[in-house]
Amino acid sequence: MTDIPLRKIDHVRFFVGNARQSAFFYRNAFGFDVIAYAGLETKVRHEAGYVLKQGEITFVLTSPLSDQHPESKRLVSHGDGVMDVALDVPDVRAAFDEAVRRGANPARAPEALEDEYGVYETASIHAYGDTTHTFINRDRYRGVFAPGYRPIDPERYQDKTARPVGLAAIDHMVANVEEGKMNEWVGWYNKILGFNQLVSFDDKDISTEYSALMSKVVQNGTGRIKFPINEPAKAKRRSQIDEYLQYYGGPGIQHIALITGDIIKTVRAMRANDVSFLRVPMTYYETLTARVGPIREDLKELADLGILVDKDDEGYMLQIFTKPVADRPTLFFEVIQRRGSKSFGKGNFKALFEAIEREQELRGTL
Ligand code: FE2
Repeated sequence: MTDIPLRKIDHVRFFVGNARQSAFFYRNAFGFDVIAYAGLETKVRHEAGYVLKQGEITFVLTSPLSDQHPESKRLVSHGDGVMDVALDVPDVRAAFDEAVRRGANPARAPEALEDEYGVYETASIHAYGDTTHTFINRDRYRGVFAPGYRPIDPERYQDKTARPVGLAAIDHMVANVEEGKMNEWVGWYNKILGFNQLVSFDDKDISTEYSALMSKVVQNGTGRIKFPINEPAKAKRRSQIDEYLQYYGGPGIQHIALITGDIIKTVRAMRANDVSFLRVPMTYYETLTARVGPIREDLKELADLGILVDKDDEGYMLQIFTKPVADRPTLFFEVIQRRGSKSFGKGNFKALFEAIEREQELRGTL
């Protein structure tokens, strides 16, 4: 299928129980600036919204203000999580019409929202579970984010400005879908959005003694947008994907990988801000040099911070994963630095999934 022209991920919208407090978390723990707000004070009656920015990353946190909000039931079924991944397109109506013609289930018809800052165009389609993709175009919009949102004066919002931790852009966003559904969704991205399959991992790549999963990565024509899609595979005990599906109440976004140019600096800052990361055993670092060869970073520093390394033909990459960011064992984040490698850390899967299983054991969900 030919591509529907997509420029980039414009923003990720999270639906959360308390957007004000989530904004505080992403600001103080992850170093995001809170740049815009929508709510009662800006004449938005049904929800509160905060727009957060760091580098090229834009997160929007939305909370309903009453049970009359059309999405309010999400909070019971999913807890806090990603509701929408918005894609910047040159032509919203063309993207929407073409997607629907190819079989996408429409969520919101094209609309041109207007205020004194111009015209903001938007339309949405349903993806897996309750997740949507919104096509947006802000070429004719000069406001801070979208109609209804007003800039936040950081001095007035809280008494200190954010301390950025060096997160620069979204590298990839991973979906968990039900057993047997991975290929269906890979096909959906191919058919509806013209994405191609980049790489696939089967249960032989991604299994431990106890649990397994399968994964395929799809990307758009420019390679700028990458969505790995996981499904659980049969194993002795319960896969982390099954745990996610149970607690999220269906398929959804499992993790968002954020790029940094200096992972040591970023992770040190995030740890100082009390972000909890998964730990692998120290034995991981004993065999690291033998596995990946020489690297520029100091091994001891990587071991202290718990940063993982993997390599492919083109270079190496460094990565680390947070623990889930809410009470349910659902959404978490990855921090990633690429030194040539375009991989997803296949060489780390085993150590990583064993670390996740230790957490599952504590939760009684393995
Ligand atoms: Fe990842």
